[in-house]
Amino acid sequence: MALVKKISSATIRERKSTGEKIAAVTAYDVAFARLADRAGMDIVLVGDSLGMVVLGYESTLPVTLEEMLHHTRAVRRGTRRALLVADMPYGSYHVEPKEAVRHAIRFVKEAGTEAIKIEGGERRMDLIARLVDAEIPVMGHIGLTPQSINTLGSFRAQGREEGSWEPIENDAIAIAQAGAFSVVIEAVAEPLARKITETIAIPTIGIGASAACDGQVLVLEDMLGLSPRTPKFVRRYGDLGPAIEAAVEGYARDVRSRAFPGPEHVYGMKVKD
Ligand code: KIV
Repeated sequence: MALVKKISSATIRERKSTGEKIAAVTAYDVAFARLADRAGMDIVLVGDSLGMVVLGYESTLPVTLEEMLHHTRAVRRGTRRALLVADMPYGSYHVEPKEAVRHAIRFVKEAGTEAIKIEGGERRMDLIARLVDAEIPVMGHIGLTPQSINTLGSFRAQGREEGSWEPIENDAIAIAQAGAFSVVIEAVAEPLARKITETIAIPTIGIGASAACDGQVLVLEDMLGLSPRTPKFVRRYGDLGPAIEAAVEGYARDVRSRAFPGPEHVYGMKVKD
């Protein structure tokens, strides 16, 4: 068996100085995790986008800790080389710090997570420091933070007017100072993403935040053409939706016309001597 060079949170952190770009995607089950890992992803993220992509919720807010743990365990079974990061869902860290740390520890002990991601900037500094103290590497998430949908009002790009940059920059600086090993920047104008990337000492991983970031993350279903709607910032690397539909239609046709199963798909009887 070929030796696998495992990616750790330290590997990702070092990319800031080596300049090697970081490639990340989401996965929610063992099959897609295995494919992403084999394809050489640096990070496989069990995002709470699980709620919208797989579970059919309108937002990420209803996703529970148990649902995240369940899917993270599945992704764990398919991920060998990539760093496995899991999102802490809404409500699991918006509680007393001790309880939030206990929830994060469950991801490590029960689901084999190697790092967790939490949304929010300056106001998460204390929690990030506590998690790092509990030996849990933390990825931050700033800019458009989907768990803040009720406060933001809509999923719109952030930092498009220069006057609105300061809080987002301060969030990035705070997260880095608190000890996070990287930070996701979502839906942020390019000049701001560039400024943050040049300012902070940890890698920035952009989603809709331009090539100025140290890495990129996409929802796998979006880039494979499996999502009904894809945001402007997604490039489709496959068109699997129509391919799957055509394959399933072909199967139904063959069943109805009795073309499947054919003689080669049938077990014969064992003959006793
Ligand atoms: O939940 C998610 O999938 C995410 C990424 C898209 C960054 O947070």
